[in-house]
Amino acid sequence: MSDIFNKRVLIVGLGLIGGSVAHGLKKASKDIKIDAFDLNGEALTSASESGVIDKTGSLEELLPTADVVVIALPATTVVDLMSRVANGVQESCIITDVASVKTSIVDALYEQPHSFQAQFVPGHPIAGSEQSGFSAASDNLFVDRNVILTPHEKCSLEAIALINELWRQLGANVFGMDLKKHDEVLAATSHLPHLLAYSIVDVIAQQDKGDNIFRFAAGGFAGFTRLASSDAKMWSDIFVFNAKETTDILDIFIDRLTTFKDRIINKDHEFLMEKLVSAKGVRDEFVEKHVIGKAQRQFPDKQMNYLVKPGGFINGSIKVPGDKSISHRAIIFGSIAEGVTKVSGFLEGEDSLNTLNAFREMGVTIIGPENGDLTIYGVGMKGLKAPRAPLYMGNSGTAMRLLAGLLAAQQFPSELTGDESLSKRPMSRVVNPLQQMGAKIRCADGETPPIKINKTKLKGISYEMKIASAQVKSCLILAGLFAEGETTIREPTLCRDHTERMLKSFGYKVQKDKVNGETKLKGGGTLCGTNIDVPADISSAAFFIVAASITPGASLDINNVGMNPTRTGIINLLQLMGANITIDNEREICGEPVADLSVSYTRLQGINVPEDQVPLAIDEFPVFFIAAACAAGVTELRGAAELRVKESDRLEAMAAGLRTLGIVVETRSDGIRIQGGSFQGGRVDSFGDHRVAMAFVMAGLIAREPIEIRDCANVATSFPHFVEVANEIGIRLTVTSVMN
Ligand code: S3P
Repeated sequence: MSDIFNKRVLIVGLGLIGGSVAHGLKKASKDIKIDAFDLNGEALTSASESGVIDKTGSLEELLPTADVVVIALPATTVVDLMSRVANGVQESCIITDVASVKTSIVDALYEQPHSFQAQFVPGHPIAGSEQSGFSAASDNLFVDRNVILTPHEKCSLEAIALINELWRQLGANVFGMDLKKHDEVLAATSHLPHLLAYSIVDVIAQQDKGDNIFRFAAGGFAGFTRLASSDAKMWSDIFVFNAKETTDILDIFIDRLTTFKDRIINKDHEFLMEKLVSAKGVRDEFVEKHVIGKAQRQFPDKQMNYLVKPGGFINGSIKVPGDKSISHRAIIFGSIAEGVTKVSGFLEGEDSLNTLNAFREMGVTIIGPENGDLTIYGVGMKGLKAPRAPLYMGNSGTAMRLLAGLLAAQQFPSELTGDESLSKRPMSRVVNPLQQMGAKIRCADGETPPIKINKTKLKGISYEMKIASAQVKSCLILAGLFAEGETTIREPTLCRDHTERMLKSFGYKVQKDKVNGETKLKGGGTLCGTNIDVPADISSAAFFIVAASITPGASLDINNVGMNPTRTGIINLLQLMGANITIDNEREICGEPVADLSVSYTRLQGINVPEDQVPLAIDEFPVFFIAAACAAGVTELRGAAELRVKESDRLEAMAAGLRTLGIVVETRSDGIRIQGGSFQGGRVDSFGDHRVAMAFVMAGLIAREPIEIRDCANVATSFPHFVEVANEIGIRLTVTSVMN
């Protein structure tokens, strides 16, 4: 049972929001004790009679026995009541509010004693409507609605976690947001539209004393002005409380109206059409994404293709997004750490965002990502909450396999699902060793997702990995953190070690024996929140490193690239082929080696890929094959059967495309043989694999004819602004969409 149900909750203000909190909590648990205070006796009587409220009384009577206080009143009243609440509550009580303005609330809070400041978590459910009062309240008002928490600097982490849990139990999705940002965002998305609705009704009413216009006003007027039926007192308070942010956006709006007026007078159809078409597009997309369906990319109705034209060049300097492997791990460890973790450079791609959403669903309050910045309010090793639905891992094998290890050790059941590609990928590699640790975990059909997990306690084991997989190693390390005793994992050849490095940054001891390839840790410790700077992803940089290496005249700089020696296989292999790559300014950031790279064109030579390089370049082979296809002579790869079970069968996917482009290729069960040649144009398939799609873009730079690449939407899983970055340095790449 959730901790929140053992608490005595006091609701101050029994209107639409306060009443719906009471209804929702009572529905979730008959046993929870709910008290209420309101000046409106009717609401209290009705709530008591319907059994939603256990006790009513004066504020001073009810505050001392409350474990949690929800102040569900307009911002001005929250401020007015603040010192009464501060004086009345016990020290262990946690307080939140629901006002739609936050900075003024925190200003008032900071005038209260220090201990009270820590107890107060400002919140804002985005669930109000033009209706008000207890009679409009319902037990499902918050189901699937967003609730924003704006933790301030002095907030206690326990308080944040408890208020998060309160909203989760009401069915809401909880997001963290910076205070100031909240007030700016709400000024634009809520306060301005309300002000406009009121003022339009006001203007029209002035024009029409006799009700003539209103008689002919239809759906458009009603739709646009719905917000003007909202509680007038509450909204006048909001405008005044959020005066700066509201008037800033109002100034911009007034300017825009003046421009519209001028252009209408000048009959400037072109301007009007441009603005209206663009606004319609934005609004349609908003409705599609945020009003009708949330899981857009789960069922895309459009197929995205790429078209690359010959004649592109590579020149300049680029920034590639943050490392995907490190981004996943920053979320995972930040969530189970004690304390706050700040992340910069986080990859805002779909894969790492799915991991982030999973932890939000498990009760972790996270601010961001915004320009790669995140603030994670860690819940500690025992603080995750049972997810309310299966956790969707999208396209990401890393997310699924790492979370399998973490979830196997939790004291609640869970289920992990994925998209079409992930649903075909092998999971026994993590399920089997986790079962040896005692986990109650199974795949639907013994091998592929969904993965179902039941709660149990784990014990440490000694495990010899059959394949060099960092995902398997990390999964077992995560399980080992919670297991009784010691967990030892031996890897057959060196594979990426971000998990071990990051655990060190979080203050957790992991022993590494490099000679035996052994990783050892003891369960039962704690992680300490920290700051993580995520370097640029060498896997994303690899596309452009190859592009610069194969395009005559190219010269390219890529800064701040992660150079962990377990990831630099692609550079080692290209250098073996004769590539011109300079590595400068080598440094260490948050335990990860980082450097600036410069790459220019040279004619490459085919090579036999040394097998020890395979795990170190495992994700870069699609683009490496492009380099091999334009090198002189033959390139041969063996010992890479893993490539058959990545997001696609990368050996066959690449071989098929390369053949279409006129390259002679033979595949083996565990490798490929590529005869260097030159690219014709043609239509190739990415098989929905992001890395295959991006690899063929680079071939387009030196192909004789255009190359069309099918099914490229999944590029968003790892490289959100790929097309813009590619265009920036001279690649002639455009996106074409086809309806399914
Ligand atoms: C990853 C490990 C690699 C890699 C994947 C990310 C990780 O997989 O291919 O993209 O973050 O641990 P394997 O460890 O299974 O080879």
